[in-house]
Amino acid sequence: LSHFLLDKFNREHTYLRISLTERCNLRCKYCMPAEGIQLTPKEELLSKDEIIKLSRLFIEEGITKIRLTGGEPLVRRDLCDIIEELNSMKEPYSNLKSIGMTTNGLTLPRKLPALQEAGLDSLNISLDTLNPVKFELITRHRGWDRVMKGIESAVAMGFSPVKINCVVMNGVNEDEICDFVQLTRNLNVDVRFIEYMPFDGNQWNDKKMVSYRDMLDTINVKFPNIVRLEDAKNDTSKGYKVDGYAGQFGFITSMSEHFCGTCNRLRITADGNLKVCLFGNSEVSLRDELRSGKDDQQLMEIIGAAVNRKKKQHADYPFPSASLVSPHHSNVLLALTR
Ligand code: GTP
Ligand code: 5AD
Ligand code: SF4
Repeated sequence: LSHFLLDKFNREHTYLRISLTERCNLRCKYCMPAEGIQLTPKEELLSKDEIIKLSRLFIEEGITKIRLTGGEPLVRRDLCDIIEELNSMKEPYSNLKSIGMTTNGLTLPRKLPALQEAGLDSLNISLDTLNPVKFELITRHRGWDRVMKGIESAVAMGFSPVKINCVVMNGVNEDEICDFVQLTRNLNVDVRFIEYMPFDGNQWNDKKMVSYRDMLDTINVKFPNIVRLEDAKNDTSKGYKVDGYAGQFGFITSMSEHFCGTCNRLRITADGNLKVCLFGNSEVSLRDELRSGKDDQQLMEIIGAAVNRKKKQHADYPFPSASLVSPHHSNVLLALTR
């Protein structure tokens, strides 16, 4: 790995998350207001060629994993072209091993074949409920059956891994935790229960957050035969499995136990800012540097300097009061009225 991607705390940044758009075709209550968010003008967003150019730089410096995110990446028209170009730079031409995408899955069923053809390896799909009516309450949109079909088809087609992201909220879906575990009996998915994070800053309401320990207690009552799995080095999730089941489950403990010490992530926002931390708001515009004609060496020095400024842990984390940032909309500052 190039020294540009190593920080002061010896963290190797081998994982690049690229936000392809701010737009989304859902309006999840914990993420967006019903009317949507203010969108950045198109000319200020990265073009496909700019995304590929920046990706190539990072790939040459040694990153091993790219994740495409949003907003909702499936709403971007040239998504498959982007994946195809990234795919052509994979091993053995570089150390890039996998291209993943985080999606709400709404339009997945019809897009899966093209995504696979283009070279997408893995999928993280957001699904907070197994109840179609509740889905509509949370996302303000119909389509539970489409998302579920997308998940099942992705597994059947051999995308690997297929993960389900489930944000657990007290009084909303905490009663479904065991149903999600039961889903892993015959379906080879990794269900990750995510601790709900505050995005309304000081108005943060801790009554909605269910801690990982409480979730585990609930699961233990119904599934006494669960085993703790060994986590990969930079996993955000603590993995478990019911003995004999096809899939597994885990917890993303963003609130109760942060994982900054093993953070290997860098982000590029849809408008081309480099973010070295989800919660940090010191960003550098790679778009502006690129458009002003900086060469690869100059760009890498700018990136390296930003990585070198990365803090051990964000000062406010896990209670970011100044910047209200959603993990899904890492490029937008949101003040949610929930
Ligand atoms: P994998 O590559 O499968 O490990 O994906 P991931 O879990 O890193 O990413 P995904 O897009 O599926 O996001 C799932 C959840 O992880 C988000 O809702 C966040 O809660 C959390 N998360 C992702 N990246 C970060 C990060 O950099 N910092 C923190 N604190 N949480 C993060
Ligand atoms: N707390 C925790 N997770 C959240 N996500 C969006 N908003 C929140 C929040 N307030 C999740 C989405 C998606 C992932 C990228 O981020 O459900 O799965
Ligand atoms: Fe869209 Fe994801 Fe936000 Fe829901 S959580 S509104 S799917 S970006």
